[in-house]
Amino acid sequence: MRLVMIGAPASGKGTQAHRLTRHYDLDHISTGEMLRAEEARRSELGLVVESYLKRGQLVPDSLVVKLVGERLTHNHLAQGFILDGFPRTLNQALALDKALQELGQGLDAALLIEVPDSAVLERITGRRADPETGRIYHLKFSPPPPEILHRLEQRDDDTAEVMQARLDTYHECIAPVVAHYRERELLIAVDGTPAPEVVFQELLGQLSSLNPRG
Ligand code: AP5
Repeated sequence: MRLVMIGAPASGKGTQAHRLTRHYDLDHISTGEMLRAEEARRSELGLVVESYLKRGQLVPDSLVVKLVGERLTHNHLAQGFILDGFPRTLNQALALDKALQELGQGLDAALLIEVPDSAVLERITGRRADPETGRIYHLKFSPPPPEILHRLEQRDDDTAEVMQARLDTYHECIAPVVAHYRERELLIAVDGTPAPEVVFQELLGQLSSLNPRG
């Protein structure tokens, strides 16, 4: 199964992508995680993207498209993948179509998680990640076990100020991406406001009716 997952910052893309990855045995490809990894290891790309991440702005299409293209070509495509946070612009969506076409493959669905802006700030400020397992928690909505609290980390861009920039960028760019997938009858939109398990079951229900494409 080949999926893309789009949605506002903190809409629950990562949370649901992790679950779908385990459920369908997919390759989870998160552009945000890949870019943060480049930044952390101070690679040439990492040094370029650092300022975009800090300001909550999109990294230029050419850089992200190259990163994703390499990953798609070199990974276990047979089992399928879920692209988390990509595409975010129409250019990225068109580049993905082209890359998949060259690989002789098609997308099965574009999952859109819808959450109002008013819910996002609380999700962002309470988010914590476990560097050992990669698991995402929320201090209130998805509390971590007390024994691992000391090692949990908060992302640098999870501040109220950067959050607003990330939200503004999302709203500026996403409409043509959503229209692109709606026109191709690939769009599956789900309400991201209920508890994570409820959202997950809704996604599974919608995905179970799909016939995987070649
Ligand atoms: P990225 O890492 O993709 O950040 P984002 O899109 O802002 O999304 P988040 O990771 O913040 O949130 P999420 O939707 O995954 O939510 P989560 O599941 O963690 O990108 C970071 C940056 O990289 C971008 O700003 C940009 O600069 C750059 N970038 C990335 N991709 C790019 C691209 N394609 N092009 C150009 N630049 C790119 O959930 C959030 C919190 O809420 C968690 O604590 C979770 O536990 C909790 N939660 C989740 N679901 C629920 C629920 N149903 N109810 C209550 N709480 C919930």
